[in-house]
Order: sequence, then structure tokens, then C-alpha cells
Amino acid sequence: MVQKIIIDTDPGQDDAVAILLALASPELQVLGLVAVAGNVPLALTELNTRKVVELSGRTDVPVFAGCDRPLSRDLVTAEHVHGKTGLDGIDLPEPTLPLQAQHGVDFIVETLRAHDAGTVTLVPIGPLTNIAEAFRRAPDIIGRVQQIVLMGGAYFEVGNITPAAEFNIYVDPEAAAEVFASGVPLVVMPLDVTHKALTDRAWIEAMRALPGRCGPAVAGWTDFFERFDTAKYGSVGAPLHDPCTIAWLLHPDLFEGRHINVEIEVDGRWTTGMTVADWWRVSGRAPNALFLKDVDRDALFDMIHDRIARLP
Ligand code: RIB
Ligand code: CA
Repeated sequence: MVQKIIIDTDPGQDDAVAILLALASPELQVLGLVAVAGNVPLALTELNTRKVVELSGRTDVPVFAGCDRPLSRDLVTAEHVHGKTGLDGIDLPEPTLPLQAQHGVDFIVETLRAHDAGTVTLVPIGPLTNIAEAFRRAPDIIGRVQQIVLMGGAYFEVGNITPAAEFNIYVDPEAAAEVFASGVPLVVMPLDVTHKALTDRAWIEAMRALPGRCGPAVAGWTDFFERFDTAKYGSVGAPLHDPCTIAWLLHPDLFEGRHINVEIEVDGRWTTGMTVADWWRVSGRAPNALFLKDVDRDALFDMIHDRIARLP
């Protein structure tokens, strides 16, 4: 059964690998990609999304631009991680793939109304602004979403943009709070698991050696992306945060976690954007998310390699 998905994204090198993985996988029907402001401003995330789709050869997949800022806060970006273009590591040509005229949030609403209820999965891998805005504009679609598989949050791994918060949640905590309270089934890929999804030199070189253009692009992106985490954490390798969402859709058995309650802090003096994950189930609050913690790292990277190898 082909899984229909919409990817909401802020490329970002790891977003780019996630997009290629999805477009290389026949188990997934990517109905569209919606760019959101996050790692870099929207003008760059939509351009980067079109560059990646064109690189993959899948120019049948439409790209939309969504919100250019969080619901109620100023935008915080992450050029220090992703470079000034947001996709540093390899120079890609200006895309010929057009940006769709329709606002990305309206595309999300229209698509969920057009498809049978419970058949479309949302895969947000940036701030949750577009998802929350779609739910605000059209509350009728909330019950139609099959599930949300998102990259965001942290608990045991704590924050990467503040001591308490992970970037995607921190940028728009109000949006995250509304999505986590929506009642839609959630699968959450926090730093707890994505920091275990680290590239290594052999894998990057195997990417670089792939025939075609996509493998070398992944090598260039992960080489660039790695330097931030190596400098910050002393880790060897780049964490492939966003591809973990797509990998879960393809092989959920590679991951382990718990169905628990997760609340979003929006008023903390020091903790705004924190995902308060009740891992030990002490709060009595109802579970609202499958919160992942472990991954079979080698099987994950073998799968990503084999899928990227299918692309031009
Ligand atoms: O904290 C990691 C997340 O923030 C990833 O989605 C990365 O692309 C950035 O958006
Ligand atoms: Ca991202």
C-alpha cells in the first residue's frame, strides 16, 4: 500500500537528504513539498526545496511556499549550522522547476480535504508553523490527517539551540503546542534518536563514489553539515535528523520508543520550546505521541545508501 505524504521542510542539508530518500522510495507518494521559514528564511528554503527536487529528477512533485515567519514570534534561523544559503556543501544550479502559486498552507488544507480521511500523512521536518496555521484555517482537516511524523524535540539529549530546546520546536513553540494538542496521532523523532544517526567517513565516501549526481550531493552536504556537530559535541559524523522521519515510514522496525505524553513549554523563562516528555509516565497525562529513542544505525544508513543509489 503506497503511503501518501506531504513533506513540510526548511532545507537544510539534512532536510535535503530526507527529501531525496522520500523521492527515491516507491512505497511513498509525495503529494507535494511545502517550504517553511526555519534554518534560513523562506525565500531560501523554497529555493532549496526546488533545487533538491530538480536534482532528484522528480519534477512531477510540486513545491509550495508556506509561512515566512512563526505564528507569533520573530524568526530565528540557523545559518551557523547550514551556511548562508541553507544548503552549503555543494553548488546546485538555479532550478527550472517553478514554485507553485498557491500558498503552501492552502495546499495542505485542500489536499487533506481532497483525499479520503485517514490516508494522508504529514511529515514536518522544520518548525511546525505551516501545520498549525493549516489547523487554524481549517479545523475540519484535523480529523482527516492519518498521522504526523515529525522531526523535533529532545528529552534525554536536551536542547541544541538552547540548553532546553531543540531548534524546530524552539522556532515556533506556539505552533508546536497546537500540533501536539491537536489529537492527531504523532510520531516524534527527537534528538534522542537523531543524534544516534551519525554519518561516518566510509558512508560519506561511498555516497561520493555513487554514479550520478545525487550521491555526491549527499556527500557534499554531510561533509559540510558534520563540522557543526563535530565542533559542538566532539562527535564524529553528522546527525541525519530529518531522514529519520522518512526512514520510519519505510522501516518502523528500525526504531524503538514509547507512547507517552509530550507537552510543549511556551512560557518558560529558560525552557521555552522544551518538549516535556513524560518518559517515566509520572504525570498521569494522556499519551499523545510515539517518542522515539533508539535506532539500528547501520541498517538505517544501509537503507539510505541503497535508496539514494537509485536516483540520477
Ligand atoms: O534540530 C534539528 C532540526 O533543525 C532539523 O530539522 C534541522 O534541519 C533543523 O531544521
Ligand atoms: Ca529541517
